[in-house]
Amino acid sequence: MNARQTYHDRVIAPSLLAADFADIGGEVRRAVGAGADWMHLDVMDGHFVDNISFGPEVVATANRASGIFLDTHLMISRPDHYLQRFIDAGADLITVHVEAEHDVAETLRRIREAGLQAGLALNPATPLDAVRPFLGRIDLLLCMTVVPGFGGQAFMPEVLEKIAAAARVRENDKLSYHIEVDGGIDAASAARCYQAGANVMVAGSSTFRAPDMAEAIAAIRRA
Ligand code: DX5
Ligand code: ZN
Repeated sequence: MNARQTYHDRVIAPSLLAADFADIGGEVRRAVGAGADWMHLDVMDGHFVDNISFGPEVVATANRASGIFLDTHLMISRPDHYLQRFIDAGADLITVHVEAEHDVAETLRRIREAGLQAGLALNPATPLDAVRPFLGRIDLLLCMTVVPGFGGQAFMPEVLEKIAAAARVRENDKLSYHIEVDGGIDAASAARCYQAGANVMVAGSSTFRAPDMAEAIAAIRRA
């Protein structure tokens, strides 16, 4: 499935990491019913980050549960090695980290060659310069707003400057990648991220664990 959104659109992507794993399909459909645009899937290998979440089987489960656009975030050391399994599982967009051990340009090329959208992520401490050579070959730039590994952490406002710089580069170089933020996103931090130039909001705790998920998503959308 291809997302029709451009970087001018606000996109809300609830993170499955904060869902009830006893009913993954039901949780995906709950997010869809509450107005989610994309589903964000956090894959962690216990090596690139200090946590283990889930692998391609859960991506395939989400894909069977709904036709929603699957935004798959690989926090793994060897995205090149596991790439095909996530493509086969039905991911629509795959984001890999610039800090991981792989040929970044080659991995991005393979994602696009498979007909998917390609995302590139950078951790809060990684400067924008690290991704500069790849900005012409991606559909999405993910600026982590927490150190990745766990849901429920506090938003890091120091990343706002990097978001603004990424938006300026996009403008100057006439590029069109989405700018996504991930970590500690709720209506208040989302407002600051939109202001800086981000348009895709990943939100785990503030959506799945809200008393009213539809209202939580609507609040992030209009922030
Ligand atoms: C962080 C993950 C996030 C996480 C966000 O390592 O990449 O997607 O699920 O969770 P919240 O929204 O709870 O900070
Ligand atoms: Zn994520």
